Amino acid sequence: MFVEFPLPRVSLDPMITSLHSITLLLLCVAHVGTLAQNVPQSFDRRALHESPQSRRTEVTMVEERLRPFYHGVASGDPLSDRVIIWTRVTPQGGDTLIPVAYAVATDTTFTNVVARGVTSASVNRDFTVKVDVDGLQAGTAYYYVFSAYNRSSLIGRTRTLSDGQQAHARLAVVSCANYPSGYFNAYAGIARRNDLDAVLHLGDYIYEYDADSTSYGGATGIALKRQHEPINEIVTLSDYRIRYSQYRLDADLRRLHQQHPMIHVWDDHESANDAYTDGAQNHQPNEGSWSIRKAVSKRVCYEWMPTREQPDSVLYRRFVLGNLVDLFMLDTRLDGRDIQVEGVSSNASQASKDSLNDPTRKIMSEKQFIWLTQGLSSSTTTWRLLGNQVMFTPVEVNPIDTAYLFANIGPIFSLFLRPQLPTLQQTFELGFRGDVWTNYPAQRNRLLESLRNDNVRNLLVATGDFHCAFAFEYPVQTPFAQSTLPVEFITPSISAPNFDETLSTVSAVRSIVPAIIGTIDTTLRGLNQHLKWHDIIHHGYEILDITPERAQCDWFFYDSILVRPSPERWVRSYVTQLNQSKLSSVSTVANGKLQQDVPAPLDPPSTILRVDDTPPSCVTILGYGPVPADHVMSISYVVSAPVMVSYVITDTRGVIVRTSTAALEHGMRSLVVEMTDLTQGMYTITVTSPCGIQHVPLVVRR
Ligand SMILES: [Fe+2]
Repeated sequence: MFVEFPLPRVSLDPMITSLHSITLLLLCVAHVGTLAQNVPQSFDRRALHESPQSRRTEVTMVEERLRPFYHGVASGDPLSDRVIIWTRVTPQGGDTLIPVAYAVATDTTFTNVVARGVTSASVNRDFTVKVDVDGLQAGTAYYYVFSAYNRSSLIGRTRTLSDGQQAHARLAVVSCANYPSGYFNAYAGIARRNDLDAVLHLGDYIYEYDADSTSYGGATGIALKRQHEPINEIVTLSDYRIRYSQYRLDADLRRLHQQHPMIHVWDDHESANDAYTDGAQNHQPNEGSWSIRKAVSKRVCYEWMPTREQPDSVLYRRFVLGNLVDLFMLDTRLDGRDIQVEGVSSNASQASKDSLNDPTRKIMSEKQFIWLTQGLSSSTTTWRLLGNQVMFTPVEVNPIDTAYLFANIGPIFSLFLRPQLPTLQQTFELGFRGDVWTNYPAQRNRLLESLRNDNVRNLLVATGDFHCAFAFEYPVQTPFAQSTLPVEFITPSISAPNFDETLSTVSAVRSIVPAIIGTIDTTLRGLNQHLKWHDIIHHGYEILDITPERAQCDWFFYDSILVRPSPERWVRSYVTQLNQSKLSSVSTVANGKLQQDVPAPLDPPSTILRVDDTPPSCVTILGYGPVPADHVMSISYVVSAPVMVSYVITDTRGVIVRTSTAALEHGMRSLVVEMTDLTQGMYTITVTSPCGIQHVPLVVRR
């Protein structure tokens, strides 16, 4: 036989990895050879990062009018009384510490300022600035601005969550934006909306791949002049920072951040493809230590995203939208996840099946699992919502619809493809059972049991990762009754390739791509009654619209991601009524919220906003070390005016092991923390001052 199936694992998304296997299979069928392996290239683009004016503007869209805030502004993690505001200051000359003023107001002209202060952009955090502004009113729109180097940033708009009664919640749901694959038209559409409480980003905010033409979206990136920067796969601290910088220079993403608060969780590509606690499919031994790369990716994500930072870099967290929605943002990637089992097909070995069903295998740490199940059980809101990375609902794709396939690919392709059916079948099964909750049945079933035992109802699951749109009821299986089962809405990708784009990379088989897409469609429809609707070829986003009576998901698609702009169109809506756990199609989009906030202006203010007249006392931590340390650690900081601060040291369980207060003088100082009374292990120092809370990791090793 002429066909061999080494099925090399190249750097692709989980589902796309399987698609790529299909592509390779088709390549073999078509006698056109194999795809080239990605070759990591080393090229330090750090200099470009630090001097954005010198960048190729067609790629990075640096706009001089925004200087020195080229990356715009952002806000995120809103609570009822506070929200994170963010910016980045591009340094001039050799500056390593830049004073930055900020103000928050209820109007775009800043006549009613409710908070202001001074902080700094330091080289230690790549000149990113993050402030947790508190003392705000619930359910209220605010505008914020930064100033540095005698210039103002764009004005951002944000919104706090409601407190108490809430009649209407409305969230945009997005995931999977691969820069070289196309324009972020869906981000632009969301930026134009005026009816959102927040944007949920379910991960793959960046992709880690290189800029090679054979890489993920690489050829399209070359055609569109949207190649990844740096051009190598990102591995180092500098690499990850440059990649975030590139994405944040995209005008559509910048506008989205300017207009709406974002609640983000990482999926795998914020670190590397198919990441889990102890490794990743796309991390190789010659790329250094995984634990270091993982820590670097987390660090840079926290630098660049408007996310509230928690001790030990824990990302999973909870948001309460009044009495209406309890939102649990999960981390199913880097917090306790075991490596996925690859042998998941119906003819997998018994050893693989035993491994798959190992009761100790986890998709999240036990600590997170307990946090989730206890939180769901004690939740008192009308609805519960999971911000989830990988597909939760089980899907059957065995057997594939060969009748449809062979009726539509013609005799020549049929002749060559028939012998490969077992491999094709196996590939499909891995695609839908590999990198998903189904690969972790023990913990998924424990979660379902917890829902049943505690009578947790009205659970919605919002999922990303798969690059396609799905509307799922959960299949009713003994012993789980319908009433406590979730419904799941999966959002399409912003731009990362889906089925047709990946398959079409092989020109020799492009003519049968519609037949393969049709086969996947008919297979899914024929074997999954609980799958109410799906689309595997379009890009866009979801609107999740929730009232006390029902939760509705509206899908919006874009005609193209290869031109900018592209028309947005509503395509489908599904609704679940209270206590039903069932989905039904509806023929119109949900009505927008009545309260419409004034959008933030598209241009920075023409005059410098005086936001730094009366800065409050403020502490900025500049650095700390050594890490680990044995007996003492130093924390260097800047204090803008004399201030009292408190220090709390907690261990990894959250137990307080020391508290103290200190009066800090004006200027740049350092604090020496004695640790002779601490046992070996990891701790967190929480520094609380009038301008916010900051965390410093402390590692004691003797
Ligand atoms: Fe993705």
